[in-house]
Amino acid sequence: MLCEIWEPARQVLSSDAVLGSAQSERDITGLSMRQIPDGVDLITAGFPCTDLSQAGRKAGIAGERSGLVLKVFVLLEEMQASGRPLPDLLLENVPNMLSLNRGAAMRAIVDRLDALGYRWAYRTIDSRSAGVPQRRRRVFLHASIDGDPRSVLLADDDVIDVRDESTVTAFGFSWTEGNRGVGWAVDAVPTLKGGSTLGIASPPAIYLPNAPLGEQIVTPSIEDAEEMQGFERGHTAAAIEISKRPGTRWALVGNAVTVGVAEWIGKRLIEPGVDELAYAEWSGMGGWPKAAFGGGGRVFGVEADEWPIGAHYRSLGDVISPTSVTPLSLKATSGFWGRLQKTNLGRHPGFREALDAHVEAAVNDQMARSQADMVPMT
Ligand SMILES: C[S@@+](CC[C@H](N)C(=O)[O-])C[C@H]1O[C@@H](n2cnc3c(N)ncnc32)[C@H](O)[C@@H]1O
Repeated sequence: MLCEIWEPARQVLSSDAVLGSAQSERDITGLSMRQIPDGVDLITAGFPCTDLSQAGRKAGIAGERSGLVLKVFVLLEEMQASGRPLPDLLLENVPNMLSLNRGAAMRAIVDRLDALGYRWAYRTIDSRSAGVPQRRRRVFLHASIDGDPRSVLLADDDVIDVRDESTVTAFGFSWTEGNRGVGWAVDAVPTLKGGSTLGIASPPAIYLPNAPLGEQIVTPSIEDAEEMQGFERGHTAAAIEISKRPGTRWALVGNAVTVGVAEWIGKRLIEPGVDELAYAEWSGMGGWPKAAFGGGGRVFGVEADEWPIGAHYRSLGDVISPTSVTPLSLKATSGFWGRLQKTNLGRHPGFREALDAHVEAAVNDQMARSQADMVPMT
């Protein structure tokens, strides 16, 4: 069974290749416990993070949209009250939920889990660990009544894969930033975003140091972005039948969970491993640890890295191609370049020169085009 309210997302999820055969519901707020199929093993929710993310409204778990996750607990509480067995739970959200309002969102979730009798574990995982060139840090929380959740999310640990910058042919950055940061990513794009109340979803930018000056600042295609989430190219194309706005597919891709990360969790749910990571009881001071486990009111912080999967890394330069990328527009580049010049950011060798040359080439191109459009005087 799947529950999704947004029509373009429903269109993609209901295709035969995805979850076409699943029972489909719309609004979780109207969902009754009786609609949840008997014998369900796992409830999983990637709830809206607009209130939890740094860019969002910072209302925290009490925010109307992120608060939707609390509906999941109401359903679980109803299941328990009626004597139904409680399924495993898997939640996903932004790392900011660990620190915002001193981790109030995580506290609210853990208190409900403890009250239901769950044992739980969570871990911050970077999508690059699944081999895709996207820096995407997300918190995954797994809770189980009978099993040991440590044997799923905390079962594997890998050495952080540091890119050798001298051989890297593509760097990602966020052209919408430039005041306090640039989202710089080596051989990867920064997190693909689903859009928020503050802005529409937009592609990241990529710096190609080996391309000719003036062609070094580009944006990937939506199909490139799908691949950076681990999807087949064209995965979200069906959404065009519902919404022709180009931002829709970007929002769908940005909202999603990276396929390789979901796949690793799925495999570990079927075949649990052994947790051998060092841990210590958490003092409760400051924000929550990046990884932890607990139950019955106790919390243990775990020394887990964010790279549990260690899949073969696909370089950003191999995912994009000269035909799939588009030069970043003059408006976007000059806006970003203008913001950057007031700061000390973006000091990677050649980057500022590339931005300058890109703006100049785009201005020349625009002038040449407007001259060509002029009607010749005879
Ligand atoms: C962060 S996204 C998670 C998407 C999910 N990870 C996926 O890959 O399909 C949150 C989703 O919650 C959906 N949503 C928001 N309000 C909802 C509601 N009341 N009932 C059901 N879904 C809702 C949004 O449309 C959005 O697709």
